[in-house]
Amino acid sequence: MHMETPWWRDAVVYEIYVRSFADASGDGVGDLAGIRQRLPYLAELGVDAIWLTPFYRSPMADGGYDVADYRDVDPLFGTLADFDALVADAHGHGLRVIVDIVPNHSSSEHEWFKTALRGEGRDRYLFRDGGELPPNNWQSTFSGPAWSRTPDGQWYLHLFAAEQPDFNWRNPEVRSEFLDVLRFWLDRGVDGFRIDVAMGLYKAEGLPDTPPEDQAFKAESPIWGRPEVHEVYREWRKVLDSYPDERMAIGEVWTDSAEDLALYVRPDELHQSFNFAWLEAPWSATAFQKVIDDTLAAVTAPTWVLSNHDVVRHVTRYGGGLINSTTGLARARAALLAMLALPGSAYLYQGEELGLPEVTDLPPESRQDPIFARSRGTLPGRDGCRVPIPWSGVAEPYGFSPDGARPWLPQPVEWAVLSAEHQASDPGSTLSFYQEALRARRELRGSFTDGITWLDSPEGALFFSRGPLTCVINCGSDSVQLPPHERVLIGSAPVDGYLLPPDTAAWLHTP
Ligand code: GLC
Repeated sequence: MHMETPWWRDAVVYEIYVRSFADASGDGVGDLAGIRQRLPYLAELGVDAIWLTPFYRSPMADGGYDVADYRDVDPLFGTLADFDALVADAHGHGLRVIVDIVPNHSSSEHEWFKTALRGEGRDRYLFRDGGELPPNNWQSTFSGPAWSRTPDGQWYLHLFAAEQPDFNWRNPEVRSEFLDVLRFWLDRGVDGFRIDVAMGLYKAEGLPDTPPEDQAFKAESPIWGRPEVHEVYREWRKVLDSYPDERMAIGEVWTDSAEDLALYVRPDELHQSFNFAWLEAPWSATAFQKVIDDTLAAVTAPTWVLSNHDVVRHVTRYGGGLINSTTGLARARAALLAMLALPGSAYLYQGEELGLPEVTDLPPESRQDPIFARSRGTLPGRDGCRVPIPWSGVAEPYGFSPDGARPWLPQPVEWAVLSAEHQASDPGSTLSFYQEALRARRELRGSFTDGITWLDSPEGALFFSRGPLTCVINCGSDSVQLPPHERVLIGSAPVDGYLLPPDTAAWLHTP
């Protein structure tokens, strides 16, 4: 039965934020050739697939999430030939490749938008008359109004930066364009797509004002989660299904309920959607248990994620801002074991295998996230989780770029001991722990049951089993007694035979 499980159902997918992973060209920005050089590292880590954030032609107003040409690689990242070589090499290493697709908005440098500014084809975007005031009260997710004015007086909608005009998905040309873009990348051999802002795309007819609480990501509002969007994913699913080898799509769906999330993964829609409730849960056994129960009750192909390029790294979330937060790191390692024991697939974010914390003290002049500028510095933005990876050496650029190049964001001096090279030779390092956990998961895969069984557990801890594996995690402040077991398979910290310390998880073998 497990033989028939499609690859994505229980895959461990590694998110590569392309600008910050590895720079082969020496311009201080990560690129496709850099990723290619590091594929052996990823294969050794033991992940099944990589997800590449946008590498398309872009003026980089939002780090590439402002796409000017959906069918080409930005020169900053390489060429289409580099992309083809990367896919071929990744497949050679047994790694699948998922690419990002950004359908809610384009770049203001996209040919269609430039044409629209000249007065033609405005119906591909959301232009409205407004006079001196914007047409409605919607706010940009990046702060400030969601409308900007063109020189001729009309306004256009942008739910993100002004350089990211929203498409009008009620225009059939937009729909057919994206079907074509999907085919373009499927024909080049990609195994799947990560759909940016998947609960966006359609806005309520008439673009009505919203109460402020509807500005937040909600199951359904005039701005987010319109029912029409599901029609699009039904169409996309047909395209994906028309290709061999289980091509898939995962939606970036921020919503306030597991039931709503489930709508996106109905059998004829997307294969998966991110389960941000897991990432949003505080360090608490009750909170974790509730998310797990709600998720497993609502969706048949669950996913789990702790960090990505938009949120504060979980070492810091769990431990409070310090660079060497031992509590945060201990909890992050424990959370990994819980996540990898759950049914479904797990999405890792580059650098979490090194235990990287958020960089909270980037100088204002080096911050590049549009959120920082649009909020006039009142919001830090997301640069702190996007600092380039420390690969080797004892000083910037830590092997991220060739020596002499300056990475696009400065790297902390404290990162010398966190480099991949430094950790590879230390069996107690976070990198070694990730490798060991991923290896153990691969070995256990065949014996996992589909669901989990909760076992009685002391206050503050959670115990559950999946076949011969029992996963235990202690979120409380006292050590707890382990349930009966034959041996400890792996611990997020040293675990003797009887007690599980606070901020620790373990996998136990129970025949
Ligand atoms: C998604 C991306 C984020 C980007 C935004 C606009 O949330 O993950 O990085 O800024 O969409 O495209």
